[in-house]
Amino acid sequence: MERNRLFTKISGILHGGDYNPEQWLDRPDILDKDIAYMRDAHINTVTLGVFSWAVHEPTEGNINLDWLAAIIEKLYSNNIYTVLATPSGARPAWLDEKYPSAMRCDEMGVRNHHGLRHNHCMQSPEYREKVRIIDTALAKRFAGNPAILMWHISNELGGYCYCDTCRKKFQEWLADRYDNDIEKLNKAWWTTFWSHKFNSFDQIDPPYANGENCVLGLNLDWKRFNTWSATDFMKFEIDTLRENGATEPTTTNFMEMFMDYDYHYMSKFIDVISWDNYPELHNNWQSDADTMLERSFNHALFRSMKPGQPFMMMESAPGVVNWRPYNKYRRPGVHKLISMQAIATGSDTVQYFQIRKGRGSSEQYHGAVIDHIGTNDTRIFKEVASLGDDLNHISEITGSVSDNKVAILFDWDNRWAIDDAWALAKDTKNYDKTCMEIYNEFMSFGIEPDIISSDMDWSNYKIICAPMLYLLHDGIGDKIADFIGEGGQFMATYFTGYVDKSCLNWLGGFPGDGLHNIFGLRSEEIDTLYPEDVVNIRIRHKTGFTYHSAAVRDYQELLRDVTADVLARYDNDYMAGTPVITRNQFEKGYAYYVACRTNQDDIEFLYREMLDRAEIPYSKLPAGIEKHTRFANDIRYDFYLNCTDKPVCISKINGFELISCTSVDGKLHLDKYGVAVIKN
Ligand code: GLA
Ligand code: ZN
Repeated sequence: MERNRLFTKISGILHGGDYNPEQWLDRPDILDKDIAYMRDAHINTVTLGVFSWAVHEPTEGNINLDWLAAIIEKLYSNNIYTVLATPSGARPAWLDEKYPSAMRCDEMGVRNHHGLRHNHCMQSPEYREKVRIIDTALAKRFAGNPAILMWHISNELGGYCYCDTCRKKFQEWLADRYDNDIEKLNKAWWTTFWSHKFNSFDQIDPPYANGENCVLGLNLDWKRFNTWSATDFMKFEIDTLRENGATEPTTTNFMEMFMDYDYHYMSKFIDVISWDNYPELHNNWQSDADTMLERSFNHALFRSMKPGQPFMMMESAPGVVNWRPYNKYRRPGVHKLISMQAIATGSDTVQYFQIRKGRGSSEQYHGAVIDHIGTNDTRIFKEVASLGDDLNHISEITGSVSDNKVAILFDWDNRWAIDDAWALAKDTKNYDKTCMEIYNEFMSFGIEPDIISSDMDWSNYKIICAPMLYLLHDGIGDKIADFIGEGGQFMATYFTGYVDKSCLNWLGGFPGDGLHNIFGLRSEEIDTLYPEDVVNIRIRHKTGFTYHSAAVRDYQELLRDVTADVLARYDNDYMAGTPVITRNQFEKGYAYYVACRTNQDDIEFLYREMLDRAEIPYSKLPAGIEKHTRFANDIRYDFYLNCTDKPVCISKINGFELISCTSVDGKLHLDKYGVAVIKN
């Protein structure tokens, strides 16, 4: 795997984060101190300008960027680079006062008042014009400046607007999608049901909270439209920068497994993937190791969007956030663990929100590198500085990438469709969680899966698991058949292939689109269990003579027309004796089907079987340990993370440990929350 550096200007890992000097322009003493402290903490980058519009342009048309230029220059002379943001994430009061169309309408269609953020209509022509003017000024002034690393578009784009402009845009978008043929739309949305037929596109509303929100095809297309709309806005900002001379890479900061937009789609239009990572550690419902695994899944999701390229952890909290029901400080040592997990999974940056705490308003108690006390000897500061030092020790990993052979399929419109389906049980659908449980099972063997979409290139993978793939994109049946036909192993579960891209059911048996032939079965019923229900399955061992049993949770499917090999059968309740786990050889590969929800640990044999057949080496890791691997040309870096508060020793590890500069000969000792990077 070829080394692929994100930036040419800087050779190591980026360490820094959001910095808001505009809040301190009357305190040059503090700004000077900040720079000195940044150097103490080995910070080499800051993100500037995220919410600076009111300082850039205090009144309409009166733009002054001298303050910003001076700060960029001063930082640069201290070897600190700038990620420069466009300020469209929040607007000055003059703008909303004069151009109310910039403000978003809520889901009843009512215009919001001025304020907050995530409160703009991305289709408002007046808002766009003002964004164009300020972005043009920024690009004209700073494009090509040696201090500028990249452009950060807006901030955490999110939400839907239900204004009239968006309503009309939605209608145009639909007309385009359905070839100007309203009957095509009526068919796709099954509108004869409840007399919901439309005669023309201009009759269609967004799914207002007090209007039409039961047509599932409409709901789904509305979400796709909003993905398009946010992407269209983001592209408009990128185009504006480019037209005015900006050649530096672009990014926008994504938010974990955010439901509003299909990030797989958006990611195609930016150069570098970045995301904001805020784990809720030390909570009262799961272990730190499980919380860390959730993070790891998110990192994998974002990493996989641009194969062969590192991503950026654009934000994370030094110490604590302030917006959760409970806001608990990260315990000593955990800062390093969280930061190194990002690097281990493929990030080339550790960035924070925020460098210095503000004195007022809603984020005054959010964690920062520099606290109100204003010194460089706080616990958090020292942990950040020590991490900065560690990052310097491992800087050679910059540009290394992953090369995983296992993937989990995770589509946004599948999430939306499952979420919106009037089926299963409201409280236990758990699509995301189900994907994570499969991810976690592979991780327990030291195998890290990528997280991919239906539309991506699958050719690097030997094993793909697609739990609950309820909605099948066009052509996906053939794509799965080709993958398996050429020797791939594909695992599907209950609730697969029920609907097409419009949420219309496949006829002739699930899984649809021809997949029942590939899997050698049809599903006839899906039953929802109460948490108290007790159903078991009996799993036949390889020898054919011994069995073990496992509990079913939440869902069980009744299979029929089974021609596949049966690996397990239901043991009680009305499906007793019928097949529940099957394996079907199809051409050169294998199609597995798991027809009920169960603990992945209990069906560990499937994982071993698939990995053995794919000739992927694996070994069970001690509980709470994560292993991740990055490659740079012929060099291999294995990261071991101890996500528990107990020391651990892992055997059969050899190589050179980069953080401590020592060689490891057989046994790797990790302190609580400890991290090691083994070079081979
Ligand atoms: C988000 C935003 C930041 C800040 C942090 C607080 O990630 O992008 O501006 O509000 O949350 O955690
Ligand atoms: Zn709007």
